[in-house]
Amino acid sequence: MDLQGAAVVVTGGARRVGRRVARRLAERGANLVVNYRTSAADARAAVDEFSALGVQALAVQADVSTKAGVETLRDAALDAFGGVDALVNNASIYPRTPLDELTEADFDRNVAVNLKGPYLGCWLLGMHMRGRGRGKIVNIADWAVNRPYVDYAPYFVAKGGIVALTRVFAKELAPNVTVNAIAPGPILMPDDFSEATVQAVARATPLQRIGDPDDIANTVLYLLEGTDFVTGAVIPVDGGRTVS
Ligand SMILES: NC(=O)c1ccc[n+]([C@@H]2O[C@H](COP(=O)([O-])OP(=O)(O)OC[C@H]3O[C@@H](n4cnc5c(N)ncnc54)[C@H](OP(=O)(O)O)[C@@H]3O)[C@@H](O)[C@H]2O)c1
Repeated sequence: MDLQGAAVVVTGGARRVGRRVARRLAERGANLVVNYRTSAADARAAVDEFSALGVQALAVQADVSTKAGVETLRDAALDAFGGVDALVNNASIYPRTPLDELTEADFDRNVAVNLKGPYLGCWLLGMHMRGRGRGKIVNIADWAVNRPYVDYAPYFVAKGGIVALTRVFAKELAPNVTVNAIAPGPILMPDDFSEATVQAVARATPLQRIGDPDDIANTVLYLLEGTDFVTGAVIPVDGGRTVS
């Protein structure tokens, strides 16, 4: 896919990893829908930053866990750019949920944002792309679904579903739309992690360091513009955690 002038939706694109993904896409000439839920100021700043690169960008507030929210993103891209060429399902929540404090609502919220959101994107934007005869979807999973950490049960259950989701929609949307996933390892730690915890995570990683958002952004670029012959794949970008 030629990203020059392509319309790309990045969910949760105002901050952290999603922001860097969106930035790298803008650098390649893509026009962007930068989705946010609560980070309005960051989304406005992102749009200003990307516009300065010469592309069109708009910040769109939407809750991806609802059908209406995902339709809002699709319609914003239709109005501004005439359609959606690619979608990066990046938005996520990562709440600590120890078993003895767990509520039913923890499961519902994790599944709604981390699994139903990407599902709605694959379904609704996937159908839109299929109707146009082209498109690419990249889902962001998590390497640790295969070796989950304790205290995050609903998160990992939801993220595990991304692998199935990716394979299901890769088949449903073939041959003109590709659907792949990236499974990041430690890239940006939650703000409440101590320095000691971050160091311990780095030591547990074969490459002995934390990754960088560019590691994810560059893999998104590979899937969007580096090849048209990969679909249904889940690519670990994890410093070797999978083999540790
Ligand atoms: N960071 C890592 O090391 C790491 C490791 C493994 C996997 N991952 C995965 O990589 C992706 C990016 O990681 P990250 O750490 O940058 O993510 P993050 O900071 O936890 O979340 C990214 C964004 O998701 C948005 N979001 C949450 N709920 C939403 C909703 N209902 N609708 C729309 N947007 C919503 C938030 O937007 P607002 O701020 O606007 O509310 C937030 O800024 C995630 O899918 C994550 O699971 C990350």
